[in-house]
Amino acid sequence: MKNTNWPWKTIIEPFKIKMVEPLGITSREERLKLLEQAHYNLFNIKAEKVLIDMLTDSGTGAMSAEQWAGIMRGDESYAGARSYYNFERAIKDLTGLEEIIPVHQGRAAEKILFTALNGKGKYVISNSHFDTTRANVESSGAIAMDFPAKGALDFDKPADFKGDADVRAMEAFVKEKGRKNVIMCVMTVTNNSLGGQPVSMANLKAVQNLCRKYSIPLFLDCARFAENAYFIKLREKGYNKTPVKEIAEEMFELADGAMMSSKKDALVNMGGFLAMNDKDLSLKCRQLLILTEGFSTYGGLSGRDLEAIAIGLKEVLDEDYLQYRIRSSQYLGEGLLKHGIPIVNPPGGHGVYINARKFLPHIKPVNFPGQALVCRLYLEGGIRAVEIGTLMFGKRDAKGGFLPAPMELVRMAMPRRVYTQSHIDYVIEVLAHLAKNREKIGGLEAVEAPLVLSHFTAKLKPMAEEKTAVQPGGRKIWKR
Ligand code: F0G
Repeated sequence: MKNTNWPWKTIIEPFKIKMVEPLGITSREERLKLLEQAHYNLFNIKAEKVLIDMLTDSGTGAMSAEQWAGIMRGDESYAGARSYYNFERAIKDLTGLEEIIPVHQGRAAEKILFTALNGKGKYVISNSHFDTTRANVESSGAIAMDFPAKGALDFDKPADFKGDADVRAMEAFVKEKGRKNVIMCVMTVTNNSLGGQPVSMANLKAVQNLCRKYSIPLFLDCARFAENAYFIKLREKGYNKTPVKEIAEEMFELADGAMMSSKKDALVNMGGFLAMNDKDLSLKCRQLLILTEGFSTYGGLSGRDLEAIAIGLKEVLDEDYLQYRIRSSQYLGEGLLKHGIPIVNPPGGHGVYINARKFLPHIKPVNFPGQALVCRLYLEGGIRAVEIGTLMFGKRDAKGGFLPAPMELVRMAMPRRVYTQSHIDYVIEVLAHLAKNREKIGGLEAVEAPLVLSHFTAKLKPMAEEKTAVQPGGRKIWKR
């Protein structure tokens, strides 16, 4: 692990580019048509029609030369592959956990874990569940409860650790429901649903105390553990000289288990794992793994994937990389703030979240201000982002109608090692243009929306003309 104490103001990408891919350049006319065909759902747009893809930081990163070399070395044996043992060693070394179960991605770990826990009618508590985590908890019959820190929803006011859990509220809940009815606590590091904000070590320790007191297993959803650890180094007292690897190890020491979507901080395009010390639970998980993913030394992955994860888990702890990584999100966040665009402040680790409710106050939550901004960003700039608001998290009424979510955000996620500063300057320029013309952006209506994970497949349309809240003199956005 390097720690160069970079003395310059300009933080540079600590890599050079060996392979390039063209971007999808399209005209505004073409994008207007594509949006209509996609039913105003950007998950339905072909990636080759996207210029800058900020839909997600998941599985979209660039691997290193070392990882590609690992791909060539991958051992594809069905059982006991060398690559599995490299993978297992890397995870044990990082987490200190004993039972290492490979899965093809994070949600497979969630599905297996919550099925094995079999907690029908019981509760899982968290700082905030990610959407697939919540869906898997709920599909197992358990109930997912979020306890974000006070102030996490005060998006304008910066704070160092807005990803923390409200431990007092958690404890009151455990007391109210009885500890036997709370089957697990999941701490999501960083807290993706609330702005990619980090969780402090102090908070993790307080949560661990609570979990010990009431005998509740504590698991980390550690998709972005390295970014979280780096934030601890930057912001938490006593850690500024500690190597990030040691901070990460200290985080894992507090937990009884972990699940990871390796598509984030393992710097790969596919993969994940479940890790724990509880042998009985791991046996149940392995049985489910064999049923749905594959044998326990590959779990839905190729040997080459396991090899690349083993390398990525070490590379991600390079502090020059993390410095560049966190600075890139900050750079985008600062650029947007300069143009008066409200964001979740400070910027998160893996991206910047625009507060669409504040940016487009004329659009009601049930008309999806976040999704309206996402569509407009694509129309004007070919940029793809994702809504985290009523479309993703809105509860539904008896007729399937949407009820407003607590927030309306648009996440501009940063793929790892993919875009350069000029790409981000372009994104800032397009958003600055939208900010100047924001009152012309109209809302959307749902045409078709399944009840579970609806944002992936929902079909939408622009609000009917008479209902569209356009300021006097404003122009409808969707038609020319
Ligand atoms: N947990 C967190 C915190 C996540 O961010 C994700 C995925 C998952 C679990 C599920 O992992 O996709 O490998 O099955 N997040 C992606 C995103 C999809 O765009 O934030 P997965």
